[in-house]
Amino acid sequence: MKQYPNVFLFDHPLIKHKVSILRDKHTSMKEFRELIEEIATVMTYESMKDVELVPVGVETPLEKTVGYRVKEESIVIVPILRAGLGMVNGVHRVLPTAHVGHIGMYRDETTLEPQEYYCKLPDGIADKTVYLVDPMLATGGSACDAIAALKKRGVKKIKFMAVIGAPEGVAKVAEAYPDVSVYVSTLDRCLNDNGYILPGLGDAGDRLFGTK
Ligand code: PRP
Ligand code: URA
Repeated sequence: MKQYPNVFLFDHPLIKHKVSILRDKHTSMKEFRELIEEIATVMTYESMKDVELVPVGVETPLEKTVGYRVKEESIVIVPILRAGLGMVNGVHRVLPTAHVGHIGMYRDETTLEPQEYYCKLPDGIADKTVYLVDPMLATGGSACDAIAALKKRGVKKIKFMAVIGAPEGVAKVAEAYPDVSVYVSTLDRCLNDNGYILPGLGDAGDRLFGTK
């Protein structure tokens, strides 16, 4: 795949280990859900290297010094429903007071076109940094539409996080939105004729929530 300055791929042994278990069709719903959360936590650490800090006074047992606090009130987590919900707890582990917005999208199974069915975002969203999360970045249609929905509401800073990305989808988002940082834990080979990622992990929503 072409390299994009706004795309960040992970090359971390822990992620390779956890994603391999996620892929396994024998992995239970409970373990799948726990792994998605854990990977989201690791990804959040990595994606926060440029996070805004506020200086704060700290009194150690020995003296007064200056410490730092993450400006958590400026961050909103937005999962793309349904499967993005599986990543929220993982991000909250790092940013426990971040507010959460929701965007509902489903892919029409014949056209593969995303359809928006829900959007509820916290007040003042335009001035926040949005962590948009979805485990799967396949054709890129859902991510592009969710980004467009956020931009329509004035959001200027967006970080998109996906656990698994197909080259086609990563390129689509990176090219359509060069101002959006795209974090992908694992880049897979390609899409099949039904728009599923190969080797992938199947349908993330179904595996998270026990549906078919
Ligand atoms: C999955 C996934 C993404 C989308 C990715 O959701 O969670 O949102 O597909 O595919 P794309 O990149 O080709 O748009 P799905 O549409 O299956 O909805 P669901 O989570 O509600 O099952
Ligand atoms: N959505 C999924 O859940 N899995 C895929 O492989 C592609 C889209």
